[in-house]
Amino acid sequence: MKHDFDRIIDRKNTLCIKHDPAARGMPADVLPLWVADMDFAAPPCVVDALVERSRHGIFGYSNINGEYFDILRDWFLRRHGWRVEREWLLLTPGVVNAVYLAVRALTAPGDGVIVMQPVYYPFAASVRDTGRKLVVSELAIGADGRYEADMADFEAKIAENGVKAFILCSPHNPGGRVWTRGELKRMGDICLRHGVTVIADEIHQDIVFGGRRHAVFADVDPAFASIAVTCTAPSKTFNLAGLQLSNIFAADGGLRRRLEAECRSAGMSQPGVMGIVSCMAAYAGGEEWLAELLAYLDGNISFLEGALGKLAPRVRLMRPEGTYLAWLDFRGLGMSAGQLDSFVANRAKLWLNSGYTFGESGTGFMRLNAACPRSILEEAADRLCAAVAEQG
Ligand SMILES: Cc1ncc(COP(=O)(O)O)c(C=O)c1O
Repeated sequence: MKHDFDRIIDRKNTLCIKHDPAARGMPADVLPLWVADMDFAAPPCVVDALVERSRHGIFGYSNINGEYFDILRDWFLRRHGWRVEREWLLLTPGVVNAVYLAVRALTAPGDGVIVMQPVYYPFAASVRDTGRKLVVSELAIGADGRYEADMADFEAKIAENGVKAFILCSPHNPGGRVWTRGELKRMGDICLRHGVTVIADEIHQDIVFGGRRHAVFADVDPAFASIAVTCTAPSKTFNLAGLQLSNIFAADGGLRRRLEAECRSAGMSQPGVMGIVSCMAAYAGGEEWLAELLAYLDGNISFLEGALGKLAPRVRLMRPEGTYLAWLDFRGLGMSAGQLDSFVANRAKLWLNSGYTFGESGTGFMRLNAACPRSILEEAADRLCAAVAEQG
């Protein structure tokens, strides 16, 4: 490998939230494997572009240009076979921001908005915080141990609750599913039948393993483009979350105008220049780095699967098809949610995301972020195995 993903980079005192346990009431000696950013440096081409731009010294109001869009268009075509047009694009300072914005723009207070839980916790928050009605369709764990959508329940909940929007997580956080075209087609057909707009959060779209290919929801069927808002960003792929830039696409003019009006009413203006510079550099020159990253992450997950295999059935890992997030099922330990939180933080000395924050059905699970040097993961596995063994 040309890039050294084994290198441990000290992130303390860099204003990073992941490595600041005191700020969130965690013991000082926990290994931080929670929030979804990576402990790897961004690709050298991105760092170089940011340094060069910094040296210029003037950081005034900035905006994207034709070259920015060309780079984006080539990326989505090359990586996902998806052809985007300039007028579909809208920039926001993050995908969570875009999800909130879309919920407000495309539904009215009191409207039903459906999510498939367990799922990335800001989805439910965006529905509640904006005074919409949260409707939940639970994912089921299939015979292969992976999450699957309950299509009959999904459609029934939509019909019963007059649902107006569906927030889709694809690939799925925390379960790591890379939804197949067939699954997305079924979800989309249901939404079309019931006049439901789909807010597709595809932020993890570049991180897929085992020869899988991410399917862009809006591109699965020509009819889906008219009901979809596709949320993308270079931030998960290239570790740029702190630069706060996401690319949101809506092919339908009506949806787009409502989103644009919402941006105006929120007082949004130009994007940050470092976000623009990093996005261009990453999508134009980061592909070789990304290939190595994916191989390294796949290796990390295989390591974890092997190391934790002996803990079954007390602890089981749901191997992700995409994302660098591992969903761990601790239900075999028979602990309450509070006991499990304490066990993981105080006995295993790990800082993970509590499963119940992803929805009630996440109770008994924990999410582990595997995007770190392998030696950190080895330490994490040792700590967890020792704590479980002590537990008897
Ligand atoms: C599914 C999903 N959407 C959005 C985000 C965050 O996006 P942003 O930092 O662009 O708001 C995350 C980060 O973990 C995520 O997993």
